[in-house]
This record gives sequence, structure tokens and C-alpha cells, in this order.
Amino acid sequence: MTDTTARPRTDGGVVAPAGGAVGTARTRLEGRDKVTGAARYAADVPFDGLAHGWLVLSTVARGRITSMDTAAVLGMPGVLGVVHHGNAPRLHPAGLFGPDGQLQLLQDDRVPHVGRPVALVVARTPQQARAGAAALTVTYAQEPHDTVFRAGHPAGRPAPAAPARPDADLGDVEAEIAAAPVVVDQRYTTPEEHHSAMEPHASMARWEDGRLEVVDSNQGSFMVARVLATLFGLDQEIVRVRAEHVGGGFGSKGVGPQLVLAVMAATLLRRPVRVALTRRQVFSTTGLRPATEQRLRLASDSTGRLRAIDHATAAFTSTIQEYVERNTEASNVMYAADAIRTRTTVVPLDLPTPGWMRGPGAAAGSFALESAMDELAQAVGVDPVELRLRNEPSAGPVSGLPFSSRNLAACLREGARRFGWADRDPRPGTRREGRWLLGTGVACGSYGAGALPSTAAITARADGSYTVSVGAADIGTGARTALALVAADALGVPPESVRMRIADSRLGAAWFAGGSKGTASWSWAVTAAAADLRERLASVDRVPPDGVTGRGDTTDAIGALGKQERQSYGAQFAEVAVDTGTGEVRVRRMLGMFAAGRIVNPLTARSQLVGGMTMGLSMALHEEGARDEALGALVNSDFAGYHISAHADVPDIEADWVEDVDDSNPSGIKGVGEVGIAGTAAAIANAVWHATGVRHRALPVRLDRVL
Ligand code: MOS
Repeated sequence: MTDTTARPRTDGGVVAPAGGAVGTARTRLEGRDKVTGAARYAADVPFDGLAHGWLVLSTVARGRITSMDTAAVLGMPGVLGVVHHGNAPRLHPAGLFGPDGQLQLLQDDRVPHVGRPVALVVARTPQQARAGAAALTVTYAQEPHDTVFRAGHPAGRPAPAAPARPDADLGDVEAEIAAAPVVVDQRYTTPEEHHSAMEPHASMARWEDGRLEVVDSNQGSFMVARVLATLFGLDQEIVRVRAEHVGGGFGSKGVGPQLVLAVMAATLLRRPVRVALTRRQVFSTTGLRPATEQRLRLASDSTGRLRAIDHATAAFTSTIQEYVERNTEASNVMYAADAIRTRTTVVPLDLPTPGWMRGPGAAAGSFALESAMDELAQAVGVDPVELRLRNEPSAGPVSGLPFSSRNLAACLREGARRFGWADRDPRPGTRREGRWLLGTGVACGSYGAGALPSTAAITARADGSYTVSVGAADIGTGARTALALVAADALGVPPESVRMRIADSRLGAAWFAGGSKGTASWSWAVTAAAADLRERLASVDRVPPDGVTGRGDTTDAIGALGKQERQSYGAQFAEVAVDTGTGEVRVRRMLGMFAAGRIVNPLTARSQLVGGMTMGLSMALHEEGARDEALGALVNSDFAGYHISAHADVPDIEADWVEDVDDSNPSGIKGVGEVGIAGTAAAIANAVWHATGVRHRALPVRLDRVL
């Protein structure tokens, strides 16, 4: 583990005096290591005697494995072993967040989808392992499969209620719709979307002196160690997981298939084994955003005041694990209405198990709700910014709970001012610039905030420095740097005195980098540890403090929190140009205004928000997993066929925030990881409507169907 010491940025950023570190722009502590190549990612760390595993994936969508010709492969150069359902260690159920069918790898001969790992070939070099995997002949008894998703699919069933947010049933939706003068009733679809973190998944596992050591690319080493221990029936004390640097997670880096298989192989072969996924393998084995079909019914009076929101959504899951894509959260929290109803359906199909992908639920859910709001604005003849302001709730629209903080109206007003919204001609298809039609759109979004229990420790050193130990993960977000700033202020010392140790399961229980709650959760624990340390240091006055440690554990404090609606919010504005000849959509500028609590490091927070918006742009215009119905296979599992936004797609993008004070968390942080993608796709689709007069209810807004 590298100890990194905070250094002030040298490019003109503000360097605050001690006590004012939070809120100042800082470059990443590990930034220099990353740009010079000194930072090691999971697949970069050398180990003596390291063997390499290569996945073999199923080629049929449903059936059984009838034979596997391992003998031929075992005779190939360098091949050390083949792990398969006939010899793989037996696994225990280990669902941390529910059933874990996806992790139960190589446990039987069933094939639940194309791209399911059916074997791991291990060899001395990655090339030899790859050759062995390519040569492994697997025969299947195929069964008819169904990979075609639609909302009315007969296999569909109501999703179990989310623990904190049951289906909404406020008022009488049907009566309000029947009596309302204006009703929008539309269906919106979003396609299967796939992970594309810059660093593909990789893990190394080895047994040393009866202990399991893992070097991984993950979003939370403590959680991964716990799941791994449970899966393999081990005492968590003997499992150590580290993930010092991670090149993006976006929800896909919990316990990856490569980790489970690396541990299996290291156990069977008694030597260190690394398994790194190829880009193509990431597409079928690491979770995906499921396709959704959503019906939105909005009813309002003649001024646009909402009488009813009826939001029914369906998404697919696999046959081996029930993943629920919760698209209706926004309909619960965004707007006041007399009646609100939400329903969620899951359709199990012969497809890979979906999972979290940045802004899970909210990204697709906000596309439907915020597109429908734009259609309502059009139907009522009210400006879409004004329509949203008219429906601003004073408390949780369904829950009735107070907002921990809100400030969405401030985002809308300030965003509209900066974007120049007031000059907009509401009529669609009226702005032209040569062959381009121009339009602007707005949409809002939200993402759940709050903190989850974590621990942290801070040790004072004789040289005046402080070592902060917290099981945080920095998946590229800048969490390490943010936590150093939080610690500095909590200790009352300059950030240069703070050294960070993160990303090691030995550092104690910690929430993972997920649900936009990582930094909020860890910083609370760090703040508590700092308070404890200051108390201890006060009582050892005049004694050299070397080695004195303060500890924080937020379990009780978080458990004692009162109920509130805790969300980050954003309002996004987009301007697009649509080529009337080719249908090409160019986004010319985007502005996101956010209410996300206290911003610890404006530099990296802005990057996260801009990153979310860029991913939303990608969702709006490009991303679409395409499946062959006959094979049940993804046909575009690479960056040639699966398009994601590049720099040229975003000429002018800005993210900023309004003052937003949430004192339910001592750090005041609400989270910026996911709210940036909530609403983006709708803002762009609404702008395309404004440019062309053509409404797009199916993502992506592809050029072949724009005009
Ligand atoms: Mo996030 S999709 O909870 O990593």
C-alpha cells in the first residue's frame, strides 16, 4: 500500500489555511502516480510464481453442459489446470444484498445465458491460458431460450418492495386522471446498457500461510472480503482484500466473477492466480443495466398543477437471480401530486443478471418521468421550468417526511438564468442554422443520499503527521483526497499533515463506494475518529503522541437518525443541433446545477458530475446492447459496436451547485456520484423534440430514427 501525503495543488488552486480544507480545490493525492504510471492497478502487481486464468464462456443461451474436453487442453503448452463444474470448490450462499445466483459459478452443469463462465483455463502465461480457453471444446444440450424483453411478457411478476420505499399508493390515481383536463399517457423504453470502466475487472488470489490474500479491482474491499469468506466458508479474519487503485466501477465492481474463479484456481492449484477480464468478457459477466419499458400517466389541471402521477415500470432479470431495477424512485420524490402510484415488474429471461450501473433506477426512471413532464408542459402550454416549479413539494410527496434539504427550485432558477432559458421560443422546430435545427431542453433528477455505517482510525505520529485508516475505495472519484480534507479539518491540521490508508479489508468495516454514499459514510467515521483522537491527545498532554489512535464507528449514530427524505437533486439544461439531412444529433452545450450538500473538493466533485452527465449523454444518443434473438447473444460486445460518448460528443459541458445545507450528517455531504446522470437523457431528448418537433420515447435517440 502506498502512503500518500496531501500536497496543495500547484496550478493556481486555492490553498486554504488549516481548518478550511473542505471546500478547496485539490488535485488527487495519487494523481502524480496515476499519470506517471507508478500507480499499480490489480493486474499490474507482480507476484512470484503467478499463474494466469482465462475464462471460457457459454455459447448457448439455455441448456446443460454435456461434456468438456479438458484432456486435450491440459496437454497444451504451459497449461496448469482447468477449473469447471466437475472439480470446482463448492460455494455457500453469500448474498450480501439478496440472492447471489450470479456468484454461484461452476456449481452445476446448467447454462442460464450466453456468456456465463463455464470453465477457467489456468496456465503459466496469459497467452497460454487464452490459447487453452480457445481450444476447450464444450458441448451442450440446448433448450429453447427466451431473451426478448417486453413489459407485457407472461413471465413478468411484481417486484418485491424495496425495504425503504414500498410501492406508492397515494390518493386515487384513476379518479384524478378521469377528472383532470390534461392527461399525458405514454410509454418510454430504454435498452440494455453495458459497463465500460476504463480498467476491466481483474483479481489476483493466493494462499500464504493459511491466509487468503487478494489484490482486486473493486468498490469496497471490506465488503468483498466478507462475501468471499462467506462464499468459500472461510473465517473473514484470514481473508485480506486490497484494491489500492481502481479505474472505474460504476456499480460493476462488487465481487466479480474473475475473483471467485481466481480463488477457486488458487485453491485447487496451490499457487497465485490472476484472472483479468477482456473487454468482451466484461459485457456478459459483470452486470448490466437492464432494458426497461415504462408507462407514465401524468394528469394536471389547466395550470399544470399535478393531480396524478402513475408510473409503472418493467425490466428484465436473469433466471438465476432477481435483480430489481427500481425506476420509480423519482416519481416518489420529485413532484407534489394529489395521487401517486408506482408499480415495478421484473421479467426473468435467459439473460445475464443485471446489476447496478451508475444511477441504477434513476437514470432510466428519470428519462420516463422527465420526458413525460416535458410532454405535459407542451400539452398545458406552460414553460417546462415553470411547470416543475409549480409542482415543487414541501415534504416527501408520498412519504410526507421532511426533506433533509432540497433546493431543487434553486437549481432550476439558477440553471435557467445561466443557460439563458428566458430567451427560449417555446415552439418546436423554429430555430434553424443552415442544415441544423436547434433546440433546448430541461430535465431534473435526484439520487438517494445519506450515510451507512463505517469505521475509521486515526493515529498521531511524533513527526506531527496523522495516519487516517479507513476501508474506503477510491474508484477514480477522488474519495481518498476528499477524506484527507475532511480529516484535516476535523483534526484542525493542514491537509499536508494527513496520510491516507484506504482500500484494504484489514482497515475495518466500511461501506463501499456505492449508492453515492461512499464519501458521506467514510467521512462521518473519519470525523468521529478525529474527535476521539483529539480527546485522547488532550488527556496525554505533554507526552509525545506517537502511536496514539482515535477510533470512530458510526453504526449507533446512523441508527439513531430520524427519518427524512434524503436526496441529491439536479436540474440539467441541454442545447442540441439536429442535422436535417442525416439525423445526426450534436449536443452543443449542457449545464447541470446540483444541490448535493457540502462539496468537499470542488475539483473532483465537478469531475464526477460532469462524468455523470457525459454518461447520460452517452445513454441519450449512443448506448444500446443489441441481441440476436435466435442466439440470445449480444452482438456488439466491444467498443466498435457498442458506442459510448467520446470527447468530440461534448464540446461544452458545465456542472455547478447551489448552496445546500444538510445537517443530518456531520460532514454535510450528500453525494455526487450518481445524481449527475439523473435527468440527462431526458434533457437531451426534450431538446431534440424542441429542435425537431419529433418526440423520442425510445433510447437511444439514434440518427436513423430522429426525423
Ligand atoms: Mo453505484 S451504480 O451504487 O456503484
